[in-house]
Amino acid sequence: MGINNNPHGNGKRVDSVAIIMDGNGRWATKRGLPRTDGHIAGAKAAAAVPRLFREYGVHHLTLYAFSTENWKRPKDEVEALMDLIYQYIDDAVIPALKKDEELCVRFIGDKSALSEELRQKCIEAEKFRESGSYFCNIALNYGGRAEIVNAVNRAIADGNTIVSEELLSIYMYTGGSPDPDIIIRTGGDFRISNFLLWQCAYSEIIILDTLWPDFGKEDVEKCMEEFYSRNRRFGGLDVDGSESEA
Ligand code: IPE
Ligand code: IPE
Ligand code: MG
Repeated sequence: MGINNNPHGNGKRVDSVAIIMDGNGRWATKRGLPRTDGHIAGAKAAAAVPRLFREYGVHHLTLYAFSTENWKRPKDEVEALMDLIYQYIDDAVIPALKKDEELCVRFIGDKSALSEELRQKCIEAEKFRESGSYFCNIALNYGGRAEIVNAVNRAIADGNTIVSEELLSIYMYTGGSPDPDIIIRTGGDFRISNFLLWQCAYSEIIILDTLWPDFGKEDVEKCMEEFYSRNRRFGGLDVDGSESEA
């Protein structure tokens, strides 16, 4: 069902959604399984989400897969995560790109710290299609602060002596993508964990108790309903209600 057919949408469009996919470890621990099993289940959930959001007319989806701080985890867990991400690209991302001519995938974050194998796999997926109408950004070795510093340094290197919000937006890893209308965090924690610090300025933040591997269709519906019930003012007056129309 597209947004325009949605009786609950009130004409509000959701073009861009970003997700902090948290709770894999707790999901596994609750079941007496190793944390890695939670990440395997999490990768399955991640493979299903683009299609779920597309039904609501969402063109830009950004998934937080690994943060610049996640290197602090035990070596075994980091290695398992990197292997899984490689597998996820091979088993889910590349087949999706083959099937769907409108899909375009981009990795946001610092690829230089990744293994050469994984870096090449990311580039393979990015090069598969460089333009489309549905965009999936996968945040890998991503940090919001690092992104801002990187953007400023690249702007300076290009000869700029002064920056503006418009200019810096272009230099962000997400350059050219709209800021997220919604940022969803699963796993119940009320924090942003260095995600999209520049882009989240006016995002609607939705926290779900659902642990990421359990995230599915009902959660997407719940997030959309929650978004439609919110009143976005962007610092002005009530743009959805009667105040601005009076
Ligand atoms: C999110 O799940 C996946 C990554 C951060 C890579 P976690 O592994 O953080 O799961 P919890 O928060 O410990 O349950
Ligand atoms: C955020 O989750 C990062 C990802 C989901 C990739 P974390 O589990 O790393 O966040 P904190 O440590 O609880 O803030
Ligand atoms: Mg976590």
